[in-house]
Amino acid sequence: MTNKILDLEDISGVGPETARKLREAGFYSVEEIAIASPAELCSISGISEGKAFEIIQHARKLVNIGGFESGDKVFERKKNIKKIKTGSLSLDSLLGGGIETQAITELFGEFGSGKTQICHQLAVNVQLPEKEGGLDGSAIMIDTENTFRPERILQMAEAKGLDANDVLKNIYVAQAYNSNHQMLLVDNAKELAEKLRREGKPVRLLVVDSLTSHFRAEYVGRGTLADRQQKLNRHLHDLMRFGEVYNAAVVVTNQVMARPDVMFGDPTRPVGGHIVAHIATYRVYLKKAKGEVRIARLVDAPHLPEVEVLFKITEKGIEDVEENKKKKVKEKDEE
Ligand code: GTP
Ligand code: MG
Repeated sequence: MTNKILDLEDISGVGPETARKLREAGFYSVEEIAIASPAELCSISGISEGKAFEIIQHARKLVNIGGFESGDKVFERKKNIKKIKTGSLSLDSLLGGGIETQAITELFGEFGSGKTQICHQLAVNVQLPEKEGGLDGSAIMIDTENTFRPERILQMAEAKGLDANDVLKNIYVAQAYNSNHQMLLVDNAKELAEKLRREGKPVRLLVVDSLTSHFRAEYVGRGTLADRQQKLNRHLHDLMRFGEVYNAAVVVTNQVMARPDVMFGDPTRPVGGHIVAHIATYRVYLKKAKGEVRIARLVDAPHLPEVEVLFKITEKGIEDVEENKKKKVKEKDEE
């Protein structure tokens, strides 16, 4: 991907009128056009199949996307993948260093397991400079259960010594009223991300908390299940695309019931959650332990071991349990 910010009008064959139509249909950047399928573009009125094909080809040339890439290019692109620290070293190490950009991380677990708290913490941490574990970026949150708490952000920001009001200003929150609205908000997020990229405060985190609640409530009964999965599938692909185009971490939450009745196999497999499981790059199962302590386990990650770690939710936010903190100090002493 190039560093120069391109406009849709930079694609040859795209005039102001076509650009307007494309934006209306939710395509805000050349990168997005480059990875669109001709069928997607042709569904926009006034764009023929031939023209769609041409536009995509030109866009690909401009941003160097599509077709084969030489190994050094792949290496270059992967170097852009960054990580947001969670506030807990053990949680970071579980994830191979933090929450990754250009990937979807699913936080799943029962009520009170800490999904929303981690999302709040990430919205603060993403704003930190890179050397302090952030990405110097802003955050967008799609809130479906009205659980965004500005005062909690203030608390977490102050604990990090940040200007709490500045931190709040860089978090953009929208309530999603139903699943369709939730899906549309990804388009709005793209528009906002495009604007923020130009303003030098790029979006590096997109949260959907909760990914599944509206879908669950609206699609009940067997007959509608396939329909639900299909929509969720599309939604997740949109989110993945957002992550790739804007080099942002995408974090989604999914409430699941703890199932103490399941003794063997995986007691944590979310009901009907195969679609999410298939698309999410990282899946973190969260469980309540004693008091502030929570257990996190990474599941289905092909290149990372399936281990459990502990972390805490305190006044300050997400932290390590005491043992790990001591270890950190010791390691520092040894350096
Ligand atoms: P659901 O959305 O209901 O599925 O749960 P969740 O997984 O999102 O849980 P959430 O992240 O909201 O965790 C709630 C828990 O976080 C509470 O039970 C508290 O233990 C802890 N918590 C939340 N706010 C605070 C706070 O301000 N201070 C402290 N110390 N703990 C908090
Ligand atoms: Mg929650």
